[in-house]
Amino acid sequence: MKVALITGITGQDGSYLAELLLSKGYTVHGIIRRSSVFNTNRIDHVYKDPNAVNGEAQLFLHYGDLSDPGLLTELIYNIRPDEVYHLGAQSHVRVSFDMPEYTGNITAMGTTRLLEAIRRSGIRPRFYQASSSEMFGAAPPPQNEQTPFAPQSPYAVAKLYAYWMACNYRDAYGLFACNGILFNHESPRRGETFLTRKVTRALAFMLSGKQKTVYLGNLDAYRDWGYAPEYVQMMWLMLQQDQPDDYVVGTGEMHSVRQFVEDAFAYVGIELEWRGQRQHEQGVVRSVDTRWNHVVRSGDVVVQVLPKYFRPTEVDALRADITKARQKLGWEPQVTYRDLVRIMVDYDLLFEGLHPPGEGIECEQRLGYGWIQQPPYNVTGGLDSYQRLPVKAERQLVRTIVELLAEAEGKW
Ligand code: NAP
Ligand code: GDD
Repeated sequence: MKVALITGITGQDGSYLAELLLSKGYTVHGIIRRSSVFNTNRIDHVYKDPNAVNGEAQLFLHYGDLSDPGLLTELIYNIRPDEVYHLGAQSHVRVSFDMPEYTGNITAMGTTRLLEAIRRSGIRPRFYQASSSEMFGAAPPPQNEQTPFAPQSPYAVAKLYAYWMACNYRDAYGLFACNGILFNHESPRRGETFLTRKVTRALAFMLSGKQKTVYLGNLDAYRDWGYAPEYVQMMWLMLQQDQPDDYVVGTGEMHSVRQFVEDAFAYVGIELEWRGQRQHEQGVVRSVDTRWNHVVRSGDVVVQVLPKYFRPTEVDALRADITKARQKLGWEPQVTYRDLVRIMVDYDLLFEGLHPPGEGIECEQRLGYGWIQQPPYNVTGGLDSYQRLPVKAERQLVRTIVELLAEAEGKW
């Protein structure tokens, strides 16, 4: 049975990857940071206490930090992984302008520390580096493995350094190291300050009467948004090939931030129009489905652009050329941008205790990601309060919604 080590296991991708590997029979080890509050929400539903369950635990968590080289060496040496998935990072682009040195320390140097821990341990696991389409920066779309890098943020510069370190350990020491150059990928587990989740979560709060306006930055950037669970499958696949290589993974489609906002609102029956100039623009409700007019009305300002959310240097447009991954890995994204918007809105409504339109949940069920458990947390009771439901209750909740929807459509 294979053993995998995941850095960043508590993040969006780490949680899906842990579930995928567990479903394949791996023993999974993950590094978590010490925090004054619980930070394992995304993986609690797959964790079994090794002290309590005889022989059943396949997921083991270890305290550690990418700033601590000694500990990384000890973990590699003791765990002796067959595969290392390096996902841990300060991953927020806007924040990297506020914390450039910290971002370099964790996102760039953290990778070197991990690679050195591997080299010094004498163990030779296969290594996945979570590289990013942000490295392409100012290079015009579509971007592929041959596109020259032109990073536009401290985050992108740090990721580029880490990318080259992975290449260097492959060339210098024969390490089986792969860079997955992944374009933006989202899900109901996406961090709440990334654009897509910020919008879908705010929309759900608005529909439950808890929020009036969402404050955003640049509406005119374009991104290639895909569905995170599909992307972690590609991480695994890269490490199963005969030769290590680097791959671009995306959908090949791009949409603007403005369009994402319009489409999320339109899905629940709210039409927007835009007023004002770039840095002070507003999204105003033109019309609203009668279902919501007790909380949202025509003329309401539901989006307000604020200069503080703009980045000192922006990446204007990212769109993946996925020819190589398609040819060599058989990559064909299943979840379209349209589905993604629906999945994210559906789940955020569900987390708010609202009845979602359901097309997104239905799409997810149709595609049959049997290894995904339903999102392990619910957001209820206000902007800052997280109240978790037992996993069984959540699954029941999702099933009930799906059944109700199917019934309504006469399919049951
Ligand atoms: P995420 O949700 O922000 O997760 C980041 C993970 O890194 C979390 O588990 C975090 O721990 C951990 N981490 C942060 N600082 C750390 C430190 N000092 N020591 C150890 N762990 C630390 O990111 P994601 O969206 O899952 O992305 C996974 C990786 O792919 C990241 O490296 C990201 O840069 C890269 N990537 C993401 C995308 C995307 O669109 N999602 C695209 C391309 C590349 P806490 O939970 O304790 O904060
Ligand atoms: N986060 C955020 N918040 N972004 C906003 C906002 C806002 O209020 N308003 C507009 N945007 C714009 C950003 O300027 C950017 O052009 C776009 O929305 C997407 O921003 P994010 O969702 O923060 O993602 P990102 O593209 O900067 O970075 C993500 O994708 C990278 C891959 O390309 C992160 O996941 C990175 O870790 C990842 O490497």
